Amino acid sequence: MAIQKPYNDLLTRLDNTRLPQHIGIIMDGNGRWAAAAGKARTFGHKAGAEALRRAAEICREIHIPVLTVFAFSTENWRRPPAEIDFLMRLLGQYLQQELSLLQKENIRLNGLGDWSILPAHIRQLYDEAKQATANNSEMTLNLAVNYGARQEIVRAAQRLATATQAGELKVHEIDEEMFAAQLETASQPELDLLIRPAGELRLSNFLLWQAAYAELFFTPLMWPEFSKRDILLAIIDFQTRFRRFGSI
Ligand code: FPP
Repeated sequence: MAIQKPYNDLLTRLDNTRLPQHIGIIMDGNGRWAAAAGKARTFGHKAGAEALRRAAEICREIHIPVLTVFAFSTENWRRPPAEIDFLMRLLGQYLQQELSLLQKENIRLNGLGDWSILPAHIRQLYDEAKQATANNSEMTLNLAVNYGARQEIVRAAQRLATATQAGELKVHEIDEEMFAAQLETASQPELDLLIRPAGELRLSNFLLWQAAYAELFFTPLMWPEFSKRDILLAIIDFQTRFRRFGSI
């Protein structure tokens, strides 16, 4: 007997031949969602981590190859130390507690951003989770932590400049493909759909190169409110769009 899920009706509306191959999510609105409920911001971040689990589960279930989520930006260091500390502890818990789900669902964990300045025990948990899931093949979950797209682009440019200076590369040989291969998403599918909750209409230094042709989905819903249905609705909306990639 088929299992009745609260989103079965949406699954039947999905066109499985036109699924986004790479979805990015800016997990925004945790703080405002918590404040609206009279709770501390940290309560919102915890609920945001649960929304991330739901998002990963539904993307995995419908066979989205890559999900990238923005968990901590290079600008988030400007937050009060207590909130940064809480987010780091939450990240540590996430890396420990979600490992069994990642293994069960055959999901590979991959970090984007500069993790080198994160607390040593977080780096260790990350290294362990990355190594343990390295051969998983159903989906890749990119966790963007201490990530900034401009920094990613600058690092790519520096690598190409270094190779050019060393005589390994000629300037005219540098093209889009070569540049993309220097980014942290190298060898992953193009970003097709970028979801930003919480009513903000900007990219906030997230996947700027990769978003060149992505469809953008903005919604006033706060991230902790996001259900599996909401992810499916964003994908169904994506499937109604006619992507011209610059042609007519
Ligand atoms: C931005 O919204 C969100 C963040 C800076 C943190 C996102 C983190 C999570 C969703 C936690 C789960 C992830 C891991 C792996 C630790 P905000 O909270 O600043 O919202 P606001 O704009 O309403 O204040």
